[in-house]
Amino acid sequence: MSARAGVGVVGLAVMGSNLARNLARNGHTVALWNRTQEKTTALVEAHGHEGDFVPSEELADFVASLTTPRCVIVMVQAGPGTDAVVDAVAELLEPGDMVVDGGNALFGDTIRRTEALEAKGLHFVGAGVSGGEEGALNGPSIMVGGSDEAYETLGPIVESIAAVVDGTPCAAHLGTDGAGHFVKMVHNGIEYADMQLIGEAYDLLRNVAGLSPSAISEIFVGWNSGELDSFLIEITADVLAQVDASTGQPFVDVVLDQAGMKGTGTWTVQTALTLGTPVSGIAEAVFARALSSHRETRDAVQAAYGTTSGSTVPVPDDVDAFVEQVRRALYASKIVSYAQGFDMLAAGALLHGWSLDMGQIATIWRGGCIIRARFLDRITEAYAADPALVSLLSAPVFVEALQGADAAWRQVVSTAALSGVPTPGFAAALAAFDGSRRDRLPAALVQGQRDLFGAHTYRRVDREGTFHVMWGEDR
Ligand code: ATR
Repeated sequence: MSARAGVGVVGLAVMGSNLARNLARNGHTVALWNRTQEKTTALVEAHGHEGDFVPSEELADFVASLTTPRCVIVMVQAGPGTDAVVDAVAELLEPGDMVVDGGNALFGDTIRRTEALEAKGLHFVGAGVSGGEEGALNGPSIMVGGSDEAYETLGPIVESIAAVVDGTPCAAHLGTDGAGHFVKMVHNGIEYADMQLIGEAYDLLRNVAGLSPSAISEIFVGWNSGELDSFLIEITADVLAQVDASTGQPFVDVVLDQAGMKGTGTWTVQTALTLGTPVSGIAEAVFARALSSHRETRDAVQAAYGTTSGSTVPVPDDVDAFVEQVRRALYASKIVSYAQGFDMLAAGALLHGWSLDMGQIATIWRGGCIIRARFLDRITEAYAADPALVSLLSAPVFVEALQGADAAWRQVVSTAALSGVPTPGFAAALAAFDGSRRDRLPAALVQGQRDLFGAHTYRRVDREGTFHVMWGEDR
């Protein structure tokens, strides 16, 4: 077989085949291989006319069909599947060739695989590909971690298939080894938080303001033309407008209220715990999904206390004013949740030695990915104005936004508490904001407790040094 493909894709399930089609549509000659041959055949039969594909039955033939230095994009199941494929491909490659893992790998695995492949003289790139199957086909956001040398070859390929916003491709080289998958993981965590906050806004509008799903859909359409403009707000309006064909009920009312998850939100929170970064918005979103799925616990608590539905307070007199308060509370909570996500990026970068460019990350999240939003421009601008920005919360544009939302945000969180409508995302965001603003925190008392029961020592406000009270003697 003559080597004529500039790039190859291994793993032709939904994401892999869509990425392969995207590459072919953008003029690349794409080598194809899948463990189960039928998927390769099906792809070529259905979409062979879209571009130049070179399918192979044997992995060795696939490798032989690639021009050197070879670039193999692996799109298989994260975990053992990826290890199996990366090892098998690496056996057949030569020094200078490159393996790109475009799956949802845990960034620690990417760091490990990079070490293993670099020891063989191969390049390994961990690329976070966001946007689901639609993004993979029409233009995802691609977060690349790997060496500069690898990106010289890979950059033009990924930039040619990524989403484009204002002429800028939503693909970039963010750092070495696990940087791309780390940033993708935090992206997914932020996505969880965004979805939770939107869910809470819906719950308040439905159950405190007493609005119907179709009325709320229209409100979301309106919100989508302002500062909340985003893909998630847009699709929420569509979901709420949907009517169930078999019952004529609002679609949202016939869906079982138990949210699923595939694990990237959990990874984000686990990693944040290790880093010591409080991503409380993301954590609350993950826990809210978990709570929703604990049917037995919900049944037991409902049996003990009675079921609550709707609100325990009257519908506000001025519903329009309440809707506006909820919009402001949502925007404020979203700002806090993004600030927490970017804090986590900074902490990860520090620990792993990546020089992540925060403004660039916000830029490549503007298109292709699930959290794409106009709002991300504000983040890019904030970091452009002050590259050493410690927290997004202190950026002037967000200071103004949070000050403007402050009263509405507190009103909404207190109304929610009085109504029995759970808003863990809104409340956690407000608590995080207030926690950072407080001049004195009860952490001082916690330090006192720790010193008493565990002789953990404490520091003083008026003197340098470490102190300990001889509690038994002094009490
Ligand atoms: P999706 O793109 O739909 O999210 P996925 O579940 O992440 O897909 O990954 C499925 C792909 O991983 C398939 O191409 C699968 O190969 P088969 O079609 O032969 O099942 C591939 N895959 C998973 N484990 C693999 C392994 N150990 N070796 C080779 N390919 C593997």
